[in-house]
Amino acid sequence: MKLYINEKRKKGYIAPEIYGHFSEHLGRCIYEGLYVGEGSEIPNENGMRKDVVEALKEINIPVLRWPGGCFADEYHWRDGIGPKDERKRMVNTHWGGVTEDNSFGTHEFFELCRQLGCKTYVCGNVGSGTVQEMSEWVEYMTFDGVSPMAELRKRNGREKAWKLDYFGVGNENWGCGGNMTPDYYANLYRRYQTYVRNYDKNAPIFKVCGGADAADYNWTDTVLHECFRKPAPAEAHGFMDGLSVHYYVGVEKGQHKGSATDFDENEWFYTMKRALGMEEVIKRHGAIMDQYDPEKKIGMIVDEWGCWHDVETGTNPGFLYQQNTMRDAVVAGVTLNIFNKHCDRVKMACIAQVVNVLQAVVLTEGKKMLRTPTWQIFHMYKNHQGAELVESCLEGSGMTGTEEIQVADVNESVSVDKEGIITVTLNNLTLTEEKTLEIVLAEKKPSSVKGKILHGAMNAHNTFEEPENVVEKEFQEFTLTERGISLTLPPCSVLMLRIY
Ligand code: AHR
Repeated sequence: MKLYINEKRKKGYIAPEIYGHFSEHLGRCIYEGLYVGEGSEIPNENGMRKDVVEALKEINIPVLRWPGGCFADEYHWRDGIGPKDERKRMVNTHWGGVTEDNSFGTHEFFELCRQLGCKTYVCGNVGSGTVQEMSEWVEYMTFDGVSPMAELRKRNGREKAWKLDYFGVGNENWGCGGNMTPDYYANLYRRYQTYVRNYDKNAPIFKVCGGADAADYNWTDTVLHECFRKPAPAEAHGFMDGLSVHYYVGVEKGQHKGSATDFDENEWFYTMKRALGMEEVIKRHGAIMDQYDPEKKIGMIVDEWGCWHDVETGTNPGFLYQQNTMRDAVVAGVTLNIFNKHCDRVKMACIAQVVNVLQAVVLTEGKKMLRTPTWQIFHMYKNHQGAELVESCLEGSGMTGTEEIQVADVNESVSVDKEGIITVTLNNLTLTEEKTLEIVLAEKKPSSVKGKILHGAMNAHNTFEEPENVVEKEFQEFTLTERGISLTLPPCSVLMLRIY
């Protein structure tokens, strides 16, 4: 098999935010996962777990979405400000019916993002909130002058306005966010977004319109038909800067999705097929977006994606706590390669969810924390963030799978950074076949190459007892050739090369 790279042909900027994350008031994501409170025995800074913050900084977390998900359309931001002992307690009806004490609210979210050094993405409440409530939240967060909301913020201990980078106008409004028709949501969107004011003209908020579930192309078309406006010459933005889409990957077994760790080869390949299906979702929503916005000014925001398996035995079904194996790692590798290749349209993506929920990069248990195989992929891929995609093409790749299900065996993406260093990421989806690969560069003569690899059995995973079963390793089994690099890719693996 050959991988041709034309490092001279740049195809677009890979927004770092493609490597973003999502945190919801769901199960043990916020509480226990990210936030343990100042009084906790678990080492923390202003209530945020130090070990988790460190692990997320190691993967250069670029942006964090909060407070939901479905929770967002039931969240009333005023419940989460002011003295903690006076904050309202509520029932988290979506997720396990547990009591939410609102001890993590707006101030805590911005403090967490400050510690992480990442951009802020807040999702507003359209489903059960008012225009006034949303508009005042934006004022509370971002207005620096004299106003009722700015005064309230100051009374709660924060003098200066925060930098709000992204604001989502509702979440899944076709479902948990109000069961709306696309036409109805589109008209609400026009109204709500009007009051997402840009108080700081030098730092406009990137407005995200609530998008479709996976292959619901009618939603995208209807919403754009109603809401797409070219910005007036004097304006920086039209009605929206981004349009979201959600896409989850899982096996369907009647009422069940299948175990995260106990699965067979058919389930492996079925999952891979679903993961590869992200490309069609992007292409088809993208084609509709192109009809309205051929200049690609509006970003596609895949603000929820990842594997959704059955919860771990004995855990609350409403907490969506699942293990994470090599299968999840390869899904992440495949998906991030697809995002890179569509970086002309995909401007942000948030894996669901960052800690202890669905395809988490980190799991915690009391004081213990582990980095999942998916974390390893975000670590190995981090040099793609902010780099330029370059042209690449595989020749001689084929299909792999079982009698029931076949998928493409290898996929890749390639970028070049400001220093001219090329990053190649490759996934071998086969379970038993080594792949011999010759990388052919257009002009560059590599002076040296560094590699990292993640591989193991399809269901290999990390546990609190053995947290380093699946970790990236140095990869040195390559040779430099006249035209590039020659190597063998083990089965069930993800490889990253840095070519100097
Ligand atoms: O990520 C879990 C849930 O999945 C989110 O709350 C919702 O937006 C989606 O359906």
